[in-house]
Amino acid sequence: MGLKGAILMQKYELGRLLGQGTFAKVYHARCVETGQSVAIKVIDKGKIRKADLLDQIEREISVMRLVRHPNVVRLYEVMATKTKIYFVMEYAKGGELFNKVVAQGKFPEDVVRKLFVQLMDAVEFCHSRGVYHRDLKLENILLDGDGNVKVSDFGLSALTESRRSDGLLHTSCGTPGYVAPEIIERNGYDGVGADIWSCGVVLYVLLAGYLPFHDRNLMEMYRKIIKGEYKFPSWFSPKLRRLVSRMLDPNPNSRISIAEIKAGCWFKGGNGIKGESVVSRGVAWGESNEKEARSLSNLNAFDIISLSDGLDLSKLFEESGLDKECRFILCKPASLIISRLEKAAKIVEMKVSKKDGGLLKFERSKESRDGAVSIEVEIFVITPVLHLVEVKRGYGDVVKYKKILNDVIRPRLVDIVRPSYGEVLY
Ligand code: ADE
Repeated sequence: MGLKGAILMQKYELGRLLGQGTFAKVYHARCVETGQSVAIKVIDKGKIRKADLLDQIEREISVMRLVRHPNVVRLYEVMATKTKIYFVMEYAKGGELFNKVVAQGKFPEDVVRKLFVQLMDAVEFCHSRGVYHRDLKLENILLDGDGNVKVSDFGLSALTESRRSDGLLHTSCGTPGYVAPEIIERNGYDGVGADIWSCGVVLYVLLAGYLPFHDRNLMEMYRKIIKGEYKFPSWFSPKLRRLVSRMLDPNPNSRISIAEIKAGCWFKGGNGIKGESVVSRGVAWGESNEKEARSLSNLNAFDIISLSDGLDLSKLFEESGLDKECRFILCKPASLIISRLEKAAKIVEMKVSKKDGGLLKFERSKESRDGAVSIEVEIFVITPVLHLVEVKRGYGDVVKYKKILNDVIRPRLVDIVRPSYGEVLY
């Protein structure tokens, strides 16, 4: 029976069916009060109970709540009745990339590069938070109204078609085309490598218009995946071939990493121009991040934040449940923020080391008078004069961490917090 027209929890009016999988259906819906469009995934508890996945889904929901990125479909809320679980998610107006490829065939290389840059941003961000997708495919890559990537179902690996109760690897159309060899071989796999493989398949499909591994005979297809046996279309350039072949390396240990993908020439583009990503992660230590300065400085920095579609910064000011991280929006250049943080570290006798990707690590050894503690501070560039600073506890006592955060770090940043947010530190 269809659910169209039903009012869910007196809050959302369900509209048309957007998609259907083994365990779930996705509907368009509108918030009755605000009129806002959302997508609601309706999961049948009976089916997942049968497959023994209820506990895993509950765990994964709590993880998903932590993932907020402009290129990842946001999970707004989760509701449940006796028989169903409802995921209320961000609505991606452009729908599935899969339908676009079916309708128009392969995409131009420049368009693919922009999408791929956003996909890599999303995947790298989720991996940095310990969240893996494990079922990346064109059907899970959605587009918003402006053609930007929105990856759906990040963290919901319990629902992947590959875990169906018959134990075989299927997708809804019967092909395991995106799945990494180590998963087929059940070797015990790491989520990072498996996601990179699937992104390699996505890259190939977008540029070729068809899957790299296909065969009517399922076992033959598995064999090709395990051997990494596929052909390049004639229009794939040498740079692109190099990248795809490193992503579709059947050996997960030698497969390319995201950092290497990002450093490669295809990713950067023939003219050195990267695809767009909304917020760039990481400060280049000791450099003035000039590229960013040029591309963004014509805009009012604050407008960028409030207008950027996928980047709902108001949500940054909520207490973030499980991990006790806190975030500050600071309107000063990175060099000043770093110097403030270094001063704070000195006061509590912590050593500061600069890691790749804008990460600062504060550490105090167990030999010190006040005991061991470490703090990670990540600096995200929004514009050259606007940064998002995320502070997280590493190891050590929570009480000590909170004391350092509240008594030492916070007072040294309070005067450079973005003014209109007032006292937004938490
Ligand atoms: N199909 C599946 N999930 C969707 C979403 N969040 N937005 C639009 N279409 C979808």
